[in-house]
Amino acid sequence: MTSYKDKIDPERLPQHVAIIMDGNGRWAKQHGKHRVFGHKNGVVSVREAAEAAAELGIPYLTLYAFSTENWSRPKTEVNALMRLLLQTIKDEVATMNKNNIRLNAIGDLQSLPQRNYMHLMKAIEQTSSNNRMTLTLALSYSSRWELTMVARRIAEDVVAGRCTPEEINQECMGKYLTTSSLPDPELLIRTSGEFRVSNFMLWQIAYAELYFTNKFWPEFRREDLYKALVDFQCRERRFGKTSEQLIKK
Ligand code: IPE
Ligand code: IPE
Ligand code: MG
Repeated sequence: MTSYKDKIDPERLPQHVAIIMDGNGRWAKQHGKHRVFGHKNGVVSVREAAEAAAELGIPYLTLYAFSTENWSRPKTEVNALMRLLLQTIKDEVATMNKNNIRLNAIGDLQSLPQRNYMHLMKAIEQTSSNNRMTLTLALSYSSRWELTMVARRIAEDVVAGRCTPEEINQECMGKYLTTSSLPDPELLIRTSGEFRVSNFMLWQIAYAELYFTNKFWPEFRREDLYKALVDFQCRERRFGKTSEQLIKK
């Protein structure tokens, strides 16, 4: 069987792929299991996506793992997700080091349970010299939270005389974002057949190519990533220009 992998042009890979990992609960229900069973199986997909992206040479992969709004879920589910996160971070450090993957996190990390926060920081530190791919987890993240923080910090800097309102431009905005060290995502994937962005990187995805698949996240495998990449490479990214203006290489 031919793989979509063979159709990928290694010279035209997106530098940053972001994924809204959705559908764990529905997948579990389909299998007559509790939602947490779906989250547990979702970890397998995280591993698959991370390894496939790193092997291909994609330098940045960002996974939306827990939104600010997800705190409103039933306490039992939130607790199970936090336990699973803690266990996964602990278990995966060795594999990340083996695969030369650097862990990074964005979001209101201080709002995580203290043990999660500590182990997350430790894992980030333990993988900090890896340079094959940066794997960013968006945890307790939402774009409106992030943009509100940006507004607050800019206001503080103006009040303190560190910059003037005239100096605030798009480039400067980027420096205040939690993603300041990452390029903007070029490809955004969402699983589970939902066509929305659910408060994810609203600033950063301004020109991202959006890709939706009906697969539930626990079903997502390497081949699904390859398929999304092939689709991405078939798109014409015009950035407001006309087709004719684009310089054909
Ligand atoms: C995604 O799957 C995981 C998180 C948001 C934490 P869901 O838990 O949202 O699964 P569905 O969308 O209810 O099926
Ligand atoms: C988006 O999924 C958040 C994550 C994948 C972490 P949700 O399941 O929370 O999104 P909605 O509620 O369907 O928009
Ligand atoms: Mg969902």
